[in-house]
Amino acid sequence: MSEQKYSIVLRECRLLGAGDRATVDIAIDDDTIVAVSPRISGLGEREINIEGNLVSPPFVESHIHLDSALTAGEPRWNQSGTLFEGIQIWGERKQGLTLDDVKKRAIETLKLQASQGILFVRSHADVSEPTLTALQGLLEVREQVKDWMTLQVVAFPQDGIYGSSGNDQLLEKALDMGADAVGGIPHYELTREDGVQSVERIFELAEKYNKLIDIHCDEIDDEQSRFLEVVAAYAIRTGAGSRVTASHTTAFGSYNNAYAFKLMGILQKSRINFIANPLINITLQGRADTYPKRRGVTRVKELWQHGLNVSLGHDCVQDPWYSLGTGNMLDVAHMAVHVCQMTGMSEIEACFNMVTASGAKTLNLGDKSYGIDVGKPANLIVLDADSCYDAIRRRPAVRYVISRGKLLAETVPGKNCFHGV
Ligand code: FE2
Repeated sequence: MSEQKYSIVLRECRLLGAGDRATVDIAIDDDTIVAVSPRISGLGEREINIEGNLVSPPFVESHIHLDSALTAGEPRWNQSGTLFEGIQIWGERKQGLTLDDVKKRAIETLKLQASQGILFVRSHADVSEPTLTALQGLLEVREQVKDWMTLQVVAFPQDGIYGSSGNDQLLEKALDMGADAVGGIPHYELTREDGVQSVERIFELAEKYNKLIDIHCDEIDDEQSRFLEVVAAYAIRTGAGSRVTASHTTAFGSYNNAYAFKLMGILQKSRINFIANPLINITLQGRADTYPKRRGVTRVKELWQHGLNVSLGHDCVQDPWYSLGTGNMLDVAHMAVHVCQMTGMSEIEACFNMVTASGAKTLNLGDKSYGIDVGKPANLIVLDADSCYDAIRRRPAVRYVISRGKLLAETVPGKNCFHGV
């Protein structure tokens, strides 16, 4: 009897949570995982020995702004480091946006991300400009990369829905053009009432166009910024639940505990998702504080402890809000462990989960399309690490990235030689 043939067989893989347990082999045929077992007897056209390293589902970047990526310093650097100076600078930079400009930077960033194991990305596209150049560019990129990367695009009214006339219509047009989700920024609207009305409008549009929702919510240190409760209330009343995401929610870190406790119960009922962006918010927030200085990150640990779905994002890679950024999700998880004080072993593992499976849940990818199981699409990464803890502590290279059954990227880690004294 002839031996079974596969396109790729990965030998001696350590799956997440396997600890010291035996490794497994993974066989891939075409674009699907077809076998996972301690020893696969067939042969792959390509055989890769993973040598007991960690094999994980791909990283998920649940929150980034690809339209502004790689523009840091254009036309000037953000000297105050605040969100509001960032919005001003972007207001100047976006006057010169062209389709080519947006697409070139977005693709460059996506390649940087994919090389580091990210195969699912949710990007916001600023839809406050009458030409909708950023949105059009990202929709074209979504199509261009679809064979190796899943990109979701959120129609994001950066300047508010009611901040200037016409923005509401632009947002609706963006949904009509094919954006995957409706965005918003209620805390940046002119008044609290406008903010509440913007949330109502977002839910109305999401229902009309059958879209997901991802709102920049309470990204401010103002403890009176309380749009999260409004978002949660609409999620409960409309039944939109897990199709809704509240991004940033940094003001939650400043709420008094009595209110935060009450709010937590409402959030549990709502089943909405949360995205924290610890790299950027540790630098953007707290700028008006002297000392003690707030951390400016939402209550990640408490949300996770209460069973809510929390994922982590980069938010920005070299743009007016954050001039740093590498596209490496282990950097994001590493910062979350520190800023959110999630140093217990199960907490570190939770942070790894927040850049993988929880991100997949936020993106509503569905159980059938994410994870390492027979019958699922062959999307996986190999880390030069033996556990989540090891991966987050050392942030090693992603050795192999397999997307839709093909080897998309490969990194050979640098070698250090200690020569002694
Ligand atoms: Fe953002």
